[in-house]
Amino acid sequence: MKNFLDGIINRNKYICENGKVADYIPGLSSANKNHLGICVIDNDGTLLKSGDSEVKFTIQSISKPLTLMLALLDRGEKYVFSKVGMEPTGDAFNSIRKLETGRMRKPFNPMINAGAIEICSMIKGHSGEEKFNRVLDFFRLISENPNLEINDEIYQGEKETGNRNRSMAYFLKGEGLITGDVEEVLDIYFKQCSIEVTAVDLAKIGLFLAKGGVLSSGERVVSEHIATIAKTLMATCGMYDGSGEFAIKVGIPSKSGVGGGILSVVPGKMGIGVFGPSLDQKGNSIAGIAVLEEIAENFKFSIFN
Ligand code: DON
Repeated sequence: MKNFLDGIINRNKYICENGKVADYIPGLSSANKNHLGICVIDNDGTLLKSGDSEVKFTIQSISKPLTLMLALLDRGEKYVFSKVGMEPTGDAFNSIRKLETGRMRKPFNPMINAGAIEICSMIKGHSGEEKFNRVLDFFRLISENPNLEINDEIYQGEKETGNRNRSMAYFLKGEGLITGDVEEVLDIYFKQCSIEVTAVDLAKIGLFLAKGGVLSSGERVVSEHIATIAKTLMATCGMYDGSGEFAIKVGIPSKSGVGGGILSVVPGKMGIGVFGPSLDQKGNSIAGIAVLEEIAENFKFSIFN
């Protein structure tokens, strides 16, 4: 398997040339577009990695299914889905248009920016700081990495350039969907996107989900049902407006981020973390998708097989 992973990285590395790194803030545009790495951890805890699997990058949108699980713990399924839907949009992750024109009168799902911001407003705590610290602690717990931290340069960049997110958050406030302080909610969102991880951290989170919400120690953190909600939304909405094609070509519940990461879960079997900051037009790791396609085909990992 290790040789197979090395082969996959070598065979797909050239694809990095065909995409481009996110360039909306300097902290992301300075990424090396030729980086490509993978880590897989199976049910027995066997960890294998290849390529740039130890390089740190910001989690970005991969934070969305994670904070969703915390919101479900804090508020319960009924409350959460009264304020955010479960349907794919077919639009870009930062699209605004369906917020007002969609039939739902709420963000379509928690994997798009509007839905993720709404989810951030549900995290419990007495202050913004306490709420974010609960998010960070939750990420540390399920990645089994107590050292996760924010990349401050990227956080500042997200905050300075996040006016599109700001406009969506104020719209949600106007609709009565966000009840708290909008800037506090946005701050949690910008901070959670700026948490640094590696492909190894993502593989560990993947394994946690693959086991239905259980850590390697056997400790249960979320119910099997909450883990299933996260995995299902990853399968239907996790690769944005590329989710349908990804489901056919790969068929592994996954969530991407513009930092170049992809978190993938082979239910009951394996957690996979991929890193490749060169992105396709939809904001997904271009070589990362190719790597996952090869793995899925080779091991018949599609959940639709
Ligand atoms: O909210 C934003 O626009 C950024 N923090 C990007 C989030 C993200 O990863 C979307 N992408 N694939």
